[in-house]
Amino acid sequence: MPIVAFYSNNSNPDLQNQWENRLQAHYPEISLVPLFSDQAESAITALLWKAPLERVNTLKNLKVLISLGQGVDHILKDNIIDNEIPVVRIVDTFMAKSMSHWVAMSVLNFIRDTFGYYNQQKNKTYKPRKEINFTTLKIAVYGVGEIGSVVVKDLKQLGFKVYGWSRTKKNIAGIDCFIGEDKFKYLLKSCDIHICLLPLTIQTNNIFNNSTFKIMKHGSCFINAGRGEQVVEEDLIENCQSGHISLAILDVYRVEPLPKNSRLWEQENIKIWPHVAAETNPETAAKQIANAIKCIENGKIPPNTIERKLGY
Ligand code: NAP
Ligand code: GLV
Repeated sequence: MPIVAFYSNNSNPDLQNQWENRLQAHYPEISLVPLFSDQAESAITALLWKAPLERVNTLKNLKVLISLGQGVDHILKDNIIDNEIPVVRIVDTFMAKSMSHWVAMSVLNFIRDTFGYYNQQKNKTYKPRKEINFTTLKIAVYGVGEIGSVVVKDLKQLGFKVYGWSRTKKNIAGIDCFIGEDKFKYLLKSCDIHICLLPLTIQTNNIFNNSTFKIMKHGSCFINAGRGEQVVEEDLIENCQSGHISLAILDVYRVEPLPKNSRLWEQENIKIWPHVAAETNPETAAKQIANAIKCIENGKIPPNTIERKLGY
């Protein structure tokens, strides 16, 4: 019987049961046990979201670690986990679409000044506000992977001029795709809306900071659904205070949940979402998790096993 050590929200029992039921639909013998339980000692698989990695490391029978999300930074963090153990991530078209909806909504909120109208309603002000001309607007999407590639196509479909930036060159019809530091700066300089969908790695840590914000056009919009550590939050606040960044829409933070005393809450032109842009859907993700467990049992490499040396 495959025993899976589970941790998400402190191995919340309801969540664990929900995942176990979903997984059993694809692999009836699977049994989920809390990461901090004696049974976990015999687990060959761990299913994890932001787990205490020191505990994971003590489980000597583990043959695979599976992320409960598309990102794996929470597993690779601080190089605690043995380099040899395969790490598998979820890659789900449901999540990519869900992110695409969130990004499109954020972009449209900027262009149509939704928050300005909400403020006018408070004073019963009935008057048109300035609308940005979408035909001359340029949107940069940093990270054109499983999620970003869906986002760029959908934004293009909405009629926008979209640019992509990634580590390796992409060829996507109708999208100008770039790689490299110089093109990163070019996009920062020439685009009006900047969307971060990058994974957190050594290279992307703090990538949005005072010097990169300063390269952006005055009045730019910044949207982050990658990871909080990619943004120097104090620098973002400063640039939003000055109006250099006219609107920032955030879904991820350096510390989550976002602490009550974070200055991000106070800044009128920073909008806060609680890491929900693309939530993992147990219904759609269960099949691939069950399949990954079967692969490991059969001595095969599961699909979506990450390349450890890339860090994502
Ligand atoms: P992915 O398929 O691995 O795509 C990552 C993209 O970033 C790829 O295009 C990759 O380039 C590019 N990239 C990585 N390092 C780079 C660098 N140093 N310079 C330039 N480009 C770089 O990942 P994904 O599944 O799309 O997910 C992306 C991230 O979204 C996740 O890691 C996670 O942090 C975040 N996420 C957030 C939520 C949420 O709800 N907020 C939900 C899911 C995921 P290549 O294509 O050349 O490899
Ligand atoms: C969510 O942030 C994920 O990585 O899936």
